[in-house]
Amino acid sequence: MKKAFITGITGQDGSYLSEFLLSKDYEIHGLIRRSSTFNTDRIDHLYKDAHDPNARMFLHYGDLSVSGQLTDLLYDIKPDEIYNLGAQSHVRVSFDMPEYTGDITGLGTLRLLEAIRKTGIKTRFYQASSSEMFGAAPPPQSESTPFQPQSPYAAAKVYSYYIVCNYREAYKIFASNGILFNHESPRRGETFVTRKITRAATRIKLGLQDKLFLGNLEAKRDWGFAGDYVEAMWMMLQQDRPDDYVIATGETHSVKEFVRRVFEKLDLDWQKYVAVDPRYFRPTEVDVLLGDAGKALNELGWKPRVGFDELIDIMIAADMEAAKKEKTLVEAGYSISDHQSA
Ligand code: NAP
Ligand code: GDD
Repeated sequence: MKKAFITGITGQDGSYLSEFLLSKDYEIHGLIRRSSTFNTDRIDHLYKDAHDPNARMFLHYGDLSVSGQLTDLLYDIKPDEIYNLGAQSHVRVSFDMPEYTGDITGLGTLRLLEAIRKTGIKTRFYQASSSEMFGAAPPPQSESTPFQPQSPYAAAKVYSYYIVCNYREAYKIFASNGILFNHESPRRGETFVTRKITRAATRIKLGLQDKLFLGNLEAKRDWGFAGDYVEAMWMMLQQDRPDDYVIATGETHSVKEFVRRVFEKLDLDWQKYVAVDPRYFRPTEVDVLLGDAGKALNELGWKPRVGFDELIDIMIAADMEAAKKEKTLVEAGYSISDHQSA
């Protein structure tokens, strides 16, 4: 049985990757942060108590800011594969917390690579690199497009990308960068734009909300489905040699188009409900992301299965279910919070 160590296991991608690896009979070890509220919602359906003889997922408290403990965990677990998905992953928030973002999203990667080097364990390392690194570079963006980062988050990811390349060359560590374009799902954090839109539109439809405030509607993104993208991560670590790959759909759509389509599918006129609030603008924006994933198709045999329209349908269906439950609670007299941030 192969063992995988996953940072960011409680996040969107961590949960889909865990499902995928469990389906391939892996034993999984995940790094989780201690929190005063539960932060394991996305993986609770996969978890079995460690005393259960069938348990194959084990969670370890820790943090990407603490190098000694990462070293101890890797030495004890000796994973065959490591997936570094942990990060302060919100671009807008990285302008509010640039130092923290650099520490976790940038130096966190170095801490893991150092842990591999110091323990001398034989393992394969996946780094969650990002299309955000391309920043201002004109589309389409591929593995050969020079990075022009436009945020503290993107700059931290560029650092991680290059430190992975450096450790691969200097210490012959099997380490690969997946340069993933935006990928979404019903498990997407609620402050990322697609989920913010599907959640608000379904709540508006049921009378739970009357306005949606957004930032830049003109930005364009290459949006895919997270479930498809985690398979590409695994494929990269099954190759004969480590390398870097762009993962994308090859289609781009504006935020405005996403909003319009979601509201149309719910028979709502988006212009009646959506307002622009400059608080959601970023000091520097990434205008257009459009990926060329030709290398992944040729070398990994990877291509996306879920298209733009189906992705929207999947997200609306899940958020409509959640909104219906919420409405039941409201009708029973419970009060609900309505956060709209980032
Ligand atoms: P996400 O939902 O925001 O999950 C981030 C994960 O990182 C969470 O499990 C979070 O734990 C964990 N984390 C945050 N700070 C940490 C720390 N100090 N120590 C340990 N863990 C920490 O992100 P995602 O969408 O799944 O993305 C996964 C990775 O891919 C991230 O590195 C992201 O930057 C990168 N990426 C994402 C996309 C995308 O479109 N989704 C595209 C390209 C690259 P808590 O649950 O405790 O907060
Ligand atoms: N979050 C957010 N909230 N974004 C908004 C809003 C809003 O109210 N209104 C407009 N946008 C615009 C942003 O300005 C951006 O141009 C676009 O919608 C997408 O924003 P996000 O969904 O926050 O994603 P992102 O592209 O900044 O970053 C995501 O994708 C990266 C890959 O390219 C994150 O998942 C990163 O972690 C990931 O690396």
